[in-house]
Amino acid sequence: MSRVAVITGGAGGIGRAIALRLAQDGVDIAIVDRSAECDELCALLRGLGVRAGAYQCDVSDFEQAGAVCGQIVADFGGVDILINNAGITKDNLLLRMSEADFDLVVDVNLKGVFNFTKHLSKALMRSPAGRIINISSVSGLMGNAGQVNYSASKAGIIGLTKTVARELAPRGVTCNAIAPGFIETEMTRDLPGSVKAAVLSAIPLKRMGNPGEVAGLAAFLASEQAAYITGEVIRIDGGMAM
Ligand SMILES: NC(=O)c1ccc[n+]([C@@H]2O[C@H](COP(=O)([O-])OP(=O)(O)OC[C@H]3O[C@@H](n4cnc5c(N)ncnc54)[C@H](O)[C@@H]3O)[C@@H](O)[C@H]2O)c1
Repeated sequence: MSRVAVITGGAGGIGRAIALRLAQDGVDIAIVDRSAECDELCALLRGLGVRAGAYQCDVSDFEQAGAVCGQIVADFGGVDILINNAGITKDNLLLRMSEADFDLVVDVNLKGVFNFTKHLSKALMRSPAGRIINISSVSGLMGNAGQVNYSASKAGIIGLTKTVARELAPRGVTCNAIAPGFIETEMTRDLPGSVKAAVLSAIPLKRMGNPGEVAGLAAFLASEQAAYITGEVIRIDGGMAM
């Protein structure tokens, strides 16, 4: 039986790369995204010989998330891998940060992880080798001026990851976090030149990462070789946050 992965934010840069990478390993893919534009990706995935489906959902909505998770389990017959990847930024300095932007980012980035982890926990426990991989950020480890909402949500993901790792370990489910640095996607495309230059000067490897590199790490954590790793946070940041 092939394994089944649910990837939230699967229409975006990193989520799409993870979907394609896991499909190359023969994993069936359920893409969850607020964007409805997943037809081309699903066709590509099916072209790799796996089952693929797209589910439109706002991950921050508990009820919607529950309905989508139920539908995915019914459509695919189970879930083995959950990649909590959906995320947004609404950057501003603390003095200018609105309550609405703080709440929105925490709701999508952190509560979204809770929603999908909770709604899929029983399915993952039924899997012979359940895997949860949460996409955090170096901002959650180091803090980042202008990202009080984002860094709080990403640090929250780390606490959630370690607790879920402890709670689900007896049921054979591992739970780990990936903390990317600056990765070339839609999220980082519009950074002003001066910010990009400052970022690059702070990265020992002197370049941004690419989504395929994050996907390779996610595929490793989802694999049999990573069966003894749980509650871990792995940076993939060119050395930026060491
Ligand atoms: N790009 C980076 O440098 C970087 C660095 C560290 C962490 N990350 C994290 O990686 C993850 C993926 O980011 P990316 O760079 O691929 O960004 P992206 O903007 O390309 O993709 C994010 C995806 O999430 C989806 N999404 C946003 N809000 C949603 C919601 N409420 N419900 C469902 N889907 C929603 C978007 O539609 C999009 O497809 C995010 O959690 C992000 O915080 C990115």
